[in-house]
Amino acid sequence: MGYENIRVEKRGRVALVTLNRPKALNALNSELIAELNAALALFDSDDKIGCVVLTGSEKAFAAGADIKEMSSLSFVEAYKTDFITSWDQVSRFRKPIVAAVAGYALGGGCELAMMCDFILAAENAKFGQPEITLGVMPGAGGTQRLTRFVGKSKAMEMCLTGRMMDAAEAERSGLVSRVVPLDELLEEAMRVAEKIADFSLPIAMMTKESVNRAYETTLAEGVRFERRVFHSMFATDDQTEGMNAFVEKRAPQFKNS
Ligand code: HXC
Repeated sequence: MGYENIRVEKRGRVALVTLNRPKALNALNSELIAELNAALALFDSDDKIGCVVLTGSEKAFAAGADIKEMSSLSFVEAYKTDFITSWDQVSRFRKPIVAAVAGYALGGGCELAMMCDFILAAENAKFGQPEITLGVMPGAGGTQRLTRFVGKSKAMEMCLTGRMMDAAEAERSGLVSRVVPLDELLEEAMRVAEKIADFSLPIAMMTKESVNRAYETTLAEGVRFERRVFHSMFATDDQTEGMNAFVEKRAPQFKNS
């Protein structure tokens, strides 16, 4: 399938998606989101893909939702088309997905990065929710996800003032897992994604689902969920293979079964 707003490349078991609207700093318009969703749907059904990396350019991961597209939207149009709901498909993607963020990740760009499983940031990354400066507020999960990542005080300050966070502050606050030099970002993201993709895919998917439960339930329910999923792993060939390989002092050969 040809894409106009993203580039898609498969490297072994990793799919690399690059947001590609350089003239608009990768502003996220409806076409781009539709292409991203279509690509993710293909990766979901492609057994050879074990992990996805989502990245942008050196200057911008994404500078937000496309303000020019959004500016004339009426309430009724927004309501009838359920504007933004299609973005949720990224957060419902079941395989691991890593955001590799350089430059601006603002508004919807920051929200898109937070929908991924974790964020690796380049030293020049800047995160922010500047919607208040446009007379709106975050609408793709920012008020909820940013608060869970960095806590109420920082999230409230960022959403109420539009202040940007640099990469070091983002790492300190728990928004990103690690910061790396800009020229190593993609290489490092691919290395991490390949590592994940070399493990058992069903086990990685169940692990992702279990970690995500922590955001949606009580501790007791989350631990109960984890226990049941953990038990079910003993029905997989990959559990047998992984543990036998350790005992036999050899590398495991996971079969994704
Ligand atoms: C549409 C955008 C854009 C955006 C940048 N551009 N951000 N177009 N939507 N979000 C366009 C500019 O209009 C310009 O196009 C070109 O990209 C380069 O941008 P400049 O502003 O000239 O670049 P620079 O001076 O380097 O400033 C970079 C910047 C600034 C600080 C990131 O572009 C900026 O503030 N952008 C808006 C950030 C923002 O408010 N994001 C939140 C959007 S609301 P031309 O044609 O003039 O060259 C949002 C809501 C989410 O995301 C809620 C639901 C999804």
